[in-house]
Amino acid sequence: MKLLIIKLGGSVVTYKDSPTPKARLDTIKRLAKEIGQIYQQNKYQLILVHGAGSFGHPIAKKYKLHQGMKNKQQKLAFSLMDQQVLELNSVIMESLLKCNVPVVALPPRSFIQQSAGKFAGFDCQIIKNYLDQNQIPVLFGDGVLDDKWGCSILSGDTIVSFLAKKLPVHQVIFLSDVDGIYTGDPRTNRAAKLIPEINNQNFNEVIKGLTPTKRDDVTGEMQGKLIALQHGLKSLPVVIGNGLKVKTLQKALMPASTGTKMLLH
Ligand code: IPE
Repeated sequence: MKLLIIKLGGSVVTYKDSPTPKARLDTIKRLAKEIGQIYQQNKYQLILVHGAGSFGHPIAKKYKLHQGMKNKQQKLAFSLMDQQVLELNSVIMESLLKCNVPVVALPPRSFIQQSAGKFAGFDCQIIKNYLDQNQIPVLFGDGVLDDKWGCSILSGDTIVSFLAKKLPVHQVIFLSDVDGIYTGDPRTNRAAKLIPEINNQNFNEVIKGLTPTKRDDVTGEMQGKLIALQHGLKSLPVVIGNGLKVKTLQKALMPASTGTKMLLH
């Protein structure tokens, strides 16, 4: 069986621009069905990682939880953010379970710590053991304990690139609300063009071209994400596609996938 990691970006599972938590329920249900179909093929082992979107970023930004925790108000905000992220996780878990996907939620806050906002890895044995039993671990971007700052934010993308380094992963699929990586922000810039392929030759140029949007995002948007991914995803086929479109997941598993393909060495 081939090991696949799928990241359901916060912009796919939530309305990311909403100032308050708002899930994309229909999209979650459809993606759960599509993931169920992949699972039922018996060809793949799966790890799922989802983002926090409007359940995490706005409150993290408002209380500066990505910069640590200095006061009581931030402590409460941290608890509220963690609770919101769990709520989103529970909606996703329920949808997957309804499609007979044997998912197991592994909340990163309960076994991952950071140091001054920096991720330093974790023991993957528990994930390996679930995979050996053909169960599907589900992790997510989360607020975690930080030994220097009290707390910090761990992005789901960081988890993905770490797992891709540690486990014999066959392919990684990232789903967001646009068709892939563009030369600009396609939501606001009509001239932005989809980049069909990212490789060692054009990687730096692609990074330079990415400009931050006005979104509340404490984990670095596409630029930060691509830089984080670059180290973990060497020599691995990566597809970045639009999770709001039907069957992007299935297509990502075909040689002629849509979206942006990335292969770095
Ligand atoms: C963010 O995780 C976690 C929190 C803000 C709590 P991600 O970086 O994986 O989330 P998205 O995909 O950008 O929403």
